[in-house]
Amino acid sequence: MQTIVYPPLNLCPKSQLSDVQKKILDAKKRRNAVILAHNYVCREIQEIADYVGDSLGLSRQAKKTDADVIAFAGVDFMAETAKILNPSKTVVLPDHAAGCTLEELCDPIELAYFKKQHPGALVISYINCSAKVKELSDIICTSGNALDIVSQIPKDREIIFAPDQHLGSWIMEKTGRQMILWHGYCWAHTQYKAQELIALKKAFKGAPLVCHPECPKEVRDVADEVCSTEKMISFCRNHASDRIIVATVVEMIHRLRREIPEKTFIAAISSGKPAQHCRNMLMNTPEKLLACLENLEPRIELDEQTIKNALVPIERMLEMSK
Ligand code: 13P
Repeated sequence: MQTIVYPPLNLCPKSQLSDVQKKILDAKKRRNAVILAHNYVCREIQEIADYVGDSLGLSRQAKKTDADVIAFAGVDFMAETAKILNPSKTVVLPDHAAGCTLEELCDPIELAYFKKQHPGALVISYINCSAKVKELSDIICTSGNALDIVSQIPKDREIIFAPDQHLGSWIMEKTGRQMILWHGYCWAHTQYKAQELIALKKAFKGAPLVCHPECPKEVRDVADEVCSTEKMISFCRNHASDRIIVATVVEMIHRLRREIPEKTFIAAISSGKPAQHCRNMLMNTPEKLLACLENLEPRIELDEQTIKNALVPIERMLEMSK
């Protein structure tokens, strides 16, 4: 297993804004735009974004912004969610090709067929899915509110959970609820191997391991904490150890270091096919962010009916996770 050890940020020299970062801030002002960035995008974008957070926090920000343009540094389903919550605004994504394996592994036609086989089941979908899958869902959830949302569903109600089987199995373990799981997975998080992480914990004795619930069960079982990217901040801040091993997309560590500059973070990177730099998130380069603010392209466009239908389960999620 490979690692990248990030020393405490407060021991490192302060970095200056680059020319492209300055140009982005300038273009943002001219466009009356807001830059929303997921915890998984590169450091240069995180440094200048108006808000950096998890999928839940980003949805809340998208709902309340009064900017004319939302520049979404993330992947397409996140930018689509922002558009659904704000149909009158221009939403741009630096690279239209930035998608998500989970989204690709849940075809709306197959989900519609699956629903027919389980009439009466409530469909809860992880936000990592297309707008078409959202239309077929009763409630959306994120990794930050999934436990809370599933716990609010009456015990006798059958639930289909799509598309992430690993997040779904973690929710079942934690809530004691049975659910019918869709068999999607995140390519990056499923590359970790439990044995390698056990060896890493031995090498960094005393450092707790935190992982994302998209990791398979055998990986989650060797972790000290399993949580969404946002909850990783409070876990790492409150833990007594000054060194923490992080098993999720490596760019998460930029956010952790800025929030907790006095600690050392150890990024766990699987051997074999190292995947923990999410290739989709990395399509968000500072140059493409600048170009999308200048050109207002590529834009997220969704038809009116899709927006109307997909808004219902997203609003339900926001209501249920206040
Ligand atoms: P969060 O819910 O922590 O934002 O996770 C999103 C994600 O896509 C993880 O791979």
